Order: sequence, then structure tokens, then C-alpha cells
Amino acid sequence: MKNILLFTDPGIDDSIAIMYALLHPEINIVGIVSGYGNIDKEQATNNVAYLLDLANQTSIPLIGGATRSCTGKYPIYYPEIHGKDGLGPLQPPDTIKGKLLNFSEIFKIIENHPDTIVVDVGRNTSLATALILDENFEKKIKEFYIMGGAYFVPGNVTKLAEANFHGDPVASNFVLGYLENVTTIPLNVTNNAVITTEHIQMIKKQSNNPLISILDDVFDFYFKAYQELVPGINGAPLHDVVTLSILMNPDFGNFIKRKVKVQTCGEEKGQSLADFRVGSEQKEKNQQTKIYLTLDYQAFVNDFIKIMTNEG
Ligand code: BDR
Ligand code: CA
Repeated sequence: MKNILLFTDPGIDDSIAIMYALLHPEINIVGIVSGYGNIDKEQATNNVAYLLDLANQTSIPLIGGATRSCTGKYPIYYPEIHGKDGLGPLQPPDTIKGKLLNFSEIFKIIENHPDTIVVDVGRNTSLATALILDENFEKKIKEFYIMGGAYFVPGNVTKLAEANFHGDPVASNFVLGYLENVTTIPLNVTNNAVITTEHIQMIKKQSNNPLISILDDVFDFYFKAYQELVPGINGAPLHDVVTLSILMNPDFGNFIKRKVKVQTCGEEKGQSLADFRVGSEQKEKNQQTKIYLTLDYQAFVNDFIKIMTNEG
């Protein structure tokens, strides 16, 4: 069983990642930090609360994350991809309002769960804040997994940058420059984690879980958005889900270790940079990030279907 503290900004692929984590028999979610990113913090929080309610798991601590980035710029949200309220056409019922615990709760949670793995699938602002507030934070965490970056492939929010790193490049650069034991899952991998309507229908047919009852509506919205972005695409990439899937199945892809820098301003803002020349690994031994570059697509799809149809 893996104890996971999840930093998230749901968002459609975040929401499906939360479903995956809730349904995974080997994942124990020790807390969810909801912050701004795809949508604002308040709506992200209500969406997490809705998913926890559907899953009948309201005892999972819901912790308030960041409202904006370290750059001082106001966040840009993405309703065209994630829907006005972050769940495609859906809105959490008015009766559900996420009640947030104070950010400091995460420090108590990790004291109580010494082998916690942190997974950040949103902007890295809240994670950077945890590192700033507690100078020993990383020593208490077993591993860090981050969805972010793009190497030798175009960005998704600008020609160079992936959305999470672009949303708060100062935080991402700080986090990656600082942490020793961090694994990143960039667009090189996540763009290939394409789930189709057929996969979703297959899952719907096999599950009576209330969480899965909303899966097709939220996925359809996201798929339509991706059809606009990438004409001819036959599904939509679940960036945040594949991050968890690789954490649970590290052999689903190959990684290399390099020191990563994130550009913090200008036209390159949010661009992830690493020296991939032969021998550079030897020269830069400290703060090396594991960067996944490949994905066993069929293994991912099989895992996704298996976990999403798990009835416990
Ligand atoms: C990442 O950005 C967000 O829009 C998605 O939820 C994902 O975490 C992909 O670049
Ligand atoms: Ca996300």
C-alpha cells in the first residue's frame, strides 16, 4: 500500500486522476491539497469535495493550497479545456462545499505517515510553499512525483512550455532545483496516454460505482476540447492519470536522470531544460530529476481500465 499526498487543481484529467487514486486498491490517499491551476482554488476545492462525496470518502483530509503563483501574475484558467467549473458540463451540487483544512495540516499528516509519497499534478506553488515553510519537508517524504515539462516536443500552453510549469515557473524551478528524489512525467509521455470514448464506455458498462457515473460526461467535454486542439486525435490524453499509473507501475516507461531547469520569464517562460548530451549525467550529479521519456501505451490502457472498473 502506498500513502499518497496529492496536490491537484481539478480540472478534468485531475478529477479522473483522483477517481483512479480513490479506486486503486494499493493507494491510500492521506490528503488532497486543492489549489488554483486549471480553475480557481475555490472551485477546485468544491470539485474535490464532490468526488470524495461520490466515493463516500469524505474522511480524506482536504487541504487548502495556493490561490496564485509566485510570479505575482494573476492565473490564467482554461474553461475551454476543463469546462466553466472544471468538470466539463457538470457542476457539483450546491449542497457540496469543500471544507478546507489549514495548509499546516500537511505537516501533521506526514508526521503520521512517515512513508508518504507526494504527487503534484498541478502548478507547483503549494509544493514550493511546503518546502519553504518546513526546511525538513523533503526529508520526511519518501518520493516526489510531478506531472510537468516537455523535452524535444512542443509545449501545450505555449510553443515551448507545458501548462503546469508555465503556470508557476518560479515554483517549478525552485522545486526541481531543490529536491533530490523527484520523478517527472512530462508531455513526452503524457501526450501519448490517450484514452478513447470506447475505453470510457467499456468502463461505464462494467462499473456501478457513483464516481464512474459522471466519467463519460466529463471525458466527452475534454475529448471535444482536444479534437479542437489536435485535429484527428482519437481520444484525449490523461496527463495526471498516467503520472499515478507510472508511480504504481514504474516499468511502464523508461526514464533518464538529469538536472532540470525551468525558465522563469520571457518567451521561454515555463520551458523545461536539461542537458541530454552523453556524459552530462556524470557532470551534474546533484539534484538530478528522473525524467520519464517513454510509455508502454497498452500497459497503461490496461491498467486504467482495470483500476477504474475495480469495485473493491
Ligand atoms: C497539465 O496541465 C493541466 O492543464 C492538466 O491538468 C495537467 O496537469 C498538462 O499540461
Ligand atoms: Ca492538473
